[in-house]
Amino acid sequence: MKTNNIYIETYGCQMNLADTELVLGILTNKGYSVTDDISDANVILLNTCSVRDNAEQKIYNRLDHLKGIKRENPEAVIGILGCMAERLRKSLVEEKKIVDVVVGPDEYRRLPEYLDIAFGGEKGIGVKLSRTETYDDIIPYREDGLSAWISVMRGCDKFCTFCVVPFTRGRERSRALESIAAEIKQISGRGFREVTLLGQNVNSYLDNGNDFADLLAASAVVDRSIRIRFTTSHPQDLSDKLLYTIAEHPNICNYIHLPVQSGSNRVLELMNRTYTIEHYLNLIEKARKIIPGVSFSTDIISGFPTETFEDHILTLDVMQQVRYDGAFMFKYSPREGTKAYNMKDDVPEEVKTKRLNEIIDLQHSISFEINQAQIGTEEIILVEGFSKKSDQFLSGRTDTNKIVIIPRSEEIKSGDYVKVKINRATSATLFGELVEKMEPHSLSANIA
Ligand code: SAH
Ligand code: SF4
Ligand code: F3S
Repeated sequence: MKTNNIYIETYGCQMNLADTELVLGILTNKGYSVTDDISDANVILLNTCSVRDNAEQKIYNRLDHLKGIKRENPEAVIGILGCMAERLRKSLVEEKKIVDVVVGPDEYRRLPEYLDIAFGGEKGIGVKLSRTETYDDIIPYREDGLSAWISVMRGCDKFCTFCVVPFTRGRERSRALESIAAEIKQISGRGFREVTLLGQNVNSYLDNGNDFADLLAASAVVDRSIRIRFTTSHPQDLSDKLLYTIAEHPNICNYIHLPVQSGSNRVLELMNRTYTIEHYLNLIEKARKIIPGVSFSTDIISGFPTETFEDHILTLDVMQQVRYDGAFMFKYSPREGTKAYNMKDDVPEEVKTKRLNEIIDLQHSISFEINQAQIGTEEIILVEGFSKKSDQFLSGRTDTNKIVIIPRSEEIKSGDYVKVKINRATSATLFGELVEKMEPHSLSANIA
């Protein structure tokens, strides 16, 4: 075991992936090194998620496993970061004796101090939330690659009644536009080809009168050969200006993750989602007019309190009307401290499961049909590397975030944009052949 050597595991959403890079930026700046060998580390960190109960159970199982590591290596400091740290605070060190450090999302700047406290034999606990912290000046620790995450805002003010995020991440605040543009410039110089701008609700981004559409436009012009993605958009705040901005810039991807959660207005109201299905479907229709070829993905919760069979059918209906390219689908999980926690969790587990399975089956068949319809079309993909299954194939992604597998070819390498023809499809993957290599500046949104 070396000293000043950190090992970190990341759970939960993309914001946590970005935060891990931030944390490693802060720690390497203080003389720590990063290792991917846990037995070589004297600091073991878990960056955790609280969004559903099973996310937290995963961490408890992991902590049980880490007991063995701590036995072999009693000097090692074990720390919990992220949303579980914020939610459970001191009770984490009281219940789990092997935890030495608990630091929430707004206190990462002081993580080195909390680690020092733990090295001194005390518990290091930092869980204050901030109204202003954006880590604007911190340079994240990024390994070389093609795809980078950038948090453009932190926190969430929406308070959907099922959701723990406003409690674990605090109030909404935006990072300065100039500093985001400067970061994109810097990673462009390092050869990155894709940036995903992150926030729980990016549409409420605001910095000095610049809204999210302004930020997207400013990001897109930094380097035209870099693709810009973003997530997540809340259906209430998605503006026409944003849709026109996506349409105008070929390197802003024609892909919008727009969580609907439920197809029933009654349930949406109980969820405090603040839109109706009519508003939502209107938005989809408008986006499809303004951005030809735009694709959508969504999040859906099954079994929210009081959800009836009729509500469930309405959710299936909405899926059929929108025909999402993809969906993240969950069973409702009550979270202490949220408004919905006070509602009776009255949909029986087996009904939740049955409804969820119907939702998943429907989405699979829709994805399959959408992908089948792509056969014979041409697409531009960004090549990301070998396919997972074989180094005789390359894997890339379309503008609309679909994975395409093509045969390996000597003239193509990771980071190239190539035009491909699709000749086969499953519900998850497209298969194609090379048509031609593109010049990066000819990057085009929609050529099919
Ligand atoms: N800010 C994003 C997503 C945050 S969490 C948004 O508003 O869409 C990601 C997804 O997890 C949510 O969209 C929701 O579908 C799901 N989720 C959040 N809390 C949940 C809970 N208590 N039970 C089940 N799913 C939940
Ligand atoms: Fe949670 Fe709603 Fe905020 Fe998304 S918008 S993070 S679901 S409270
Ligand atoms: Fe999980 Fe926190 Fe993200 S609860 S989903 S890691 S914001």
